[in-house]
Amino acid sequence: MSTDVDTLEGELMAQVAAAGDLAALEEARIAALGRKGRITAMMKGLGQIPAEERRETGAALNRLKDSVATAIEARRQDLRAGELEARLVGEGIDITLPVRPEPQGRIHPVSQVMDEIAAIFADMDFTIAEGPDIEDDFHNFTALNIPPEHPARQMQDTFYLPPRDGDGMPMVLRTHTSPVQIRTMQNLPPPHRIVVPGRTYRSDSDQTHTPMFHQIEGLVIDRDTHMGHLKGTLEAFCQAFFEVDNVRMRFRPSHFPFTEPSAEVDIGCSHEGGELRIGDGDDWLEILGCGMVHPRVLESCGVDSSEWQGFAWGMGIDRIAMLKYGIPDLRAFFDCDLRWLRHYGFVPLDVPTLSGGLSR
Ligand code: DAH
Repeated sequence: MSTDVDTLEGELMAQVAAAGDLAALEEARIAALGRKGRITAMMKGLGQIPAEERRETGAALNRLKDSVATAIEARRQDLRAGELEARLVGEGIDITLPVRPEPQGRIHPVSQVMDEIAAIFADMDFTIAEGPDIEDDFHNFTALNIPPEHPARQMQDTFYLPPRDGDGMPMVLRTHTSPVQIRTMQNLPPPHRIVVPGRTYRSDSDQTHTPMFHQIEGLVIDRDTHMGHLKGTLEAFCQAFFEVDNVRMRFRPSHFPFTEPSAEVDIGCSHEGGELRIGDGDDWLEILGCGMVHPRVLESCGVDSSEWQGFAWGMGIDRIAMLKYGIPDLRAFFDCDLRWLRHYGFVPLDVPTLSGGLSR
């Protein structure tokens, strides 16, 4: 009898191992352990065998039943895993988006650079302020400590407009973004921390000057703001803007009526193999004017200069856009030549951020 059990075990195990899918395995299970299965049949036959063999055979059959059941379960796990794997492979779906045509429009380098500058100064807690392109004489000149007879008025090649109704004062196209310093300090109480990007106008036209150009002004007014803050702010800006770890900078004494002391800032650069590199090198490029806001400017806005002080700067946007992106001729900026824009413009969806990269 025990050889019968051994033979049966061999056969049943072979059937279980040969089952190629869950249905075949179920058949093998029924054939072995089902009501009419072979193990069940042998169990039923126990009554017929001599009593002395019955115990041993019965125990052997029980062991067989257990081992076959265990083998079936193990095989079932294998088959299930195999089926799942096959389904995962077979039912894979393509979740990628279909290719979309790239947008045709391009962001003008000036707009791109304004966005980059806004991202950098927003990160330093500055607010963006704006003012009108058509200014009155007071905001553009007088309040900035440029009285009527001051030579700086001639230096600025101002576009004059017909006098204003009422007081008959001449209006001008603003020659710089500095009048927004005045408007800000007149309208809001200190402290101030603003940047002012915008259009500016001067009657001047050659390879490096256009009658309309862009500036960005900065103004910080607080109780203890000093020149060290100015330096740190501009250094942090230059590193972020030119996307280099270190930018050599030089503060050269200068003169502006609205600041005292005043400085012009140069950044280090090199011309190697016809390529301009910003940050390092033996050459210098002037990029902005700055200084501590003149007490007279504060007073003309009703700000008490014994309590408040701060710094300001003004920078040409077109020029630093040319420097950063290697654009040779300023006049082409405003020619509206589509080929130029396609070449130097930026893809609309690449919005500059400090975390995601300014220009990529
Ligand atoms: N407004 C000056 C210009 O257009 C630039 C400038 C210089 C602005 C010094 C400032 C400053 O705020 O502090 O040439």
